[in-house]
Amino acid sequence: MYSKLSSIGLVAWLLAGPAIAQTEEHPLLSTWKCTTSGGCIQQNTSIVLDKDSKYAKGTAGSRTAADYAAMGVSTSGSALTLTHYVKSGSQLNPASPRVYLLGDDGKYVMMKLLGQELSVDVDYSDVPCGENGAFYLSEMAADGRGNAAAGTGYCDAQCQGYCCNEMDVLEANSRANAMTGHPCNGNNCDKGGCAYNPYLSGQRNFWGPGMTVDTSKRFTVVTQFQASGGRLSSITRKYIQNGRQISSGSISNCGSEGSTGGLTGMGAALGRGMVLAISIWNDATQQMAWLDSGNNGPCRSGEGSPSNIQSQHPGTHVVYSNIKWGDIGSTTKG
Ligand SMILES: *[C@@H]1O[C@H](CO)[C@@H](O)[C@H](O)[C@H]1NC(C)=O
Repeated sequence: MYSKLSSIGLVAWLLAGPAIAQTEEHPLLSTWKCTTSGGCIQQNTSIVLDKDSKYAKGTAGSRTAADYAAMGVSTSGSALTLTHYVKSGSQLNPASPRVYLLGDDGKYVMMKLLGQELSVDVDYSDVPCGENGAFYLSEMAADGRGNAAAGTGYCDAQCQGYCCNEMDVLEANSRANAMTGHPCNGNNCDKGGCAYNPYLSGQRNFWGPGMTVDTSKRFTVVTQFQASGGRLSSITRKYIQNGRQISSGSISNCGSEGSTGGLTGMGAALGRGMVLAISIWNDATQQMAWLDSGNNGPCRSGEGSPSNIQSQHPGTHVVYSNIKWGDIGSTTKG
């Protein structure tokens, strides 16, 4: 009897998560859901920091709105700013925040994007070599397998947290960018993924300050998940800057369906719904060379080390605004 009661208690605690975190105030971030016939309707969304976020002050159990600023996160209307380094006294500390889009029901917003598009305005002007401003989708559970309002349940195709389908819509800095599908078949994930990187494809003057897509200024990134017969047939990218449409590449296959699920598996996850995750990070080991140096981009070896970024670009930050998703062609009207 005793053990039965205590195991019920444990299950209840696991389902609800630590009660204290439910009082957390989430910075509001307006987003829009669009249809061809009805236009775009503003959503009452907010963002939540990952549950394991380290704070410059306070603890995960007593997160408040103020802690978001201490973690380099701020919102204003429909704009989200993520700052890599934050001041604490006279010191500059790495915050490297990761946040998720939360609905007003306290659950993650499940974006169902098969046959749909996702658009966002970005400002990468202060994101240097070695830094990654990541705007992506992970197939997390709507309730975060516990308490989404406290940022629980992260997963990705590198199997951090647990293994799940991941669609890297945009991983970028001011000098390089990639979009990459990472389908998973159970715990067998395509960790390398299927990527489109314009520099790697020979477009050396496409993405950068003053280039075709001028990363010194704001622009819109539109990603379309084209479906055919209920299956994902391609992922295509275009940009809009100063009213001008700029076509970019597409992904039309993604490894072996038999092993990791391939493009079909990626599309099935997009159809079920995925959670929008947004982060800014760098890393001492690879220094983002897979994204921006050698054949992948113009950055010099060593330029992207965290110590170099911190000393040369202490204000490193990225801004995402006007997040819209819905029918193909519906998010960029008017
Ligand atoms: C947003 O909240 C307002 C006020 O509660 C409500 O009237 C509106 O319907 C909500 N919008 C959506 C899309 O849920």
